[in-house]
Amino acid sequence: MEVIRNIGDLKKWRQSCRANGQTVGFVPTMGALHEGHGALIARSAADHPQTVVSIFVNPTQFGPGEDLARYPRTLEADLGLSNSHGATMVFVPEVKDIYPPGSDSWVEVLGVGDHWCGASRPGHFRGVSTVVAKLFLLVEPVTAYFGQKDAQQAVLLGKMVNDLRFGLTMVICPTVRESDGLAMSSRNRYLNDWERGQAIGLFRALEEGALLVNRGETDAKKMERVMRAKLHEFAPQAEVDYLGFADRVTFQPQVLVATPCVVLGAIRLGKTRLIDNILMGEPRMGIVGLG
Ligand code: PAJ
Repeated sequence: MEVIRNIGDLKKWRQSCRANGQTVGFVPTMGALHEGHGALIARSAADHPQTVVSIFVNPTQFGPGEDLARYPRTLEADLGLSNSHGATMVFVPEVKDIYPPGSDSWVEVLGVGDHWCGASRPGHFRGVSTVVAKLFLLVEPVTAYFGQKDAQQAVLLGKMVNDLRFGLTMVICPTVRESDGLAMSSRNRYLNDWERGQAIGLFRALEEGALLVNRGETDAKKMERVMRAKLHEFAPQAEVDYLGFADRVTFQPQVLVATPCVVLGAIRLGKTRLIDNILMGEPRMGIVGLG
């Protein structure tokens, strides 16, 4: 497995893949890798002779007062995990490679990011779509792999790929969970034991929402109240950022819930913000967006 730290070497590497007729799969990450990332890498490695993992803590997707400065940086362990799941190259650019001094060009996807994480984290999705567009242009993958864990991000990027005619396929892989159901996340390592015990409340609340929808309940407000109660049973200290139901394609909130939809939530436990979701209705996951 190669490790490449600058754009010149990346371009040479990419050229040699082309010369050898090898397709490239791509897994963009911010590092602090876990088995959720590992599953995306393994899927790419099964599909392509070359799999690139990028590790870049993207400053533009963090708001003021968010966790950019303390975001976990674990490069040695990340290289080990990437290698063991079949990556053939890890790209670790510096901020100046991705954002040359004075850069002032942005990619903004309208609509999908209006609510949920987009509302709680102004500017977040603009940072995500901009960095992923830049990485796509640099790596030139035929397929890029994303996690359902960040469903709104995946759908927004699927729209970007389609709108801007990137000409690549996005594959959305299922959320990998700990044995109790907590979605794996780089941010889980911020949790102390007491917070970790409560963290499962988010998934339990989403399961409750999914159960109600399956029983034929349609009133989103009413279900949100039940979900809040379920969350606080497990996590009395959790602050709710949002809990609700969204359309699977537009991510607009559903007032009258109808499948296919996504039940989604974000909570804060101490200083840590956790998100999760459950897809309702078919297909469970997909290619270019989740719809
Ligand atoms: P990061 O949080 O490192 O996640 C990288 C990829 O791993 C994303 O597609 C995310 O959805 C996926 N992922 C995270 N946890 C997962 C889990 N438990 N199961 C399955 N997949 C999981 O998302 C980002 O980085 C950034 O926003 C990025 C797209 C790299 C742009 O900076």
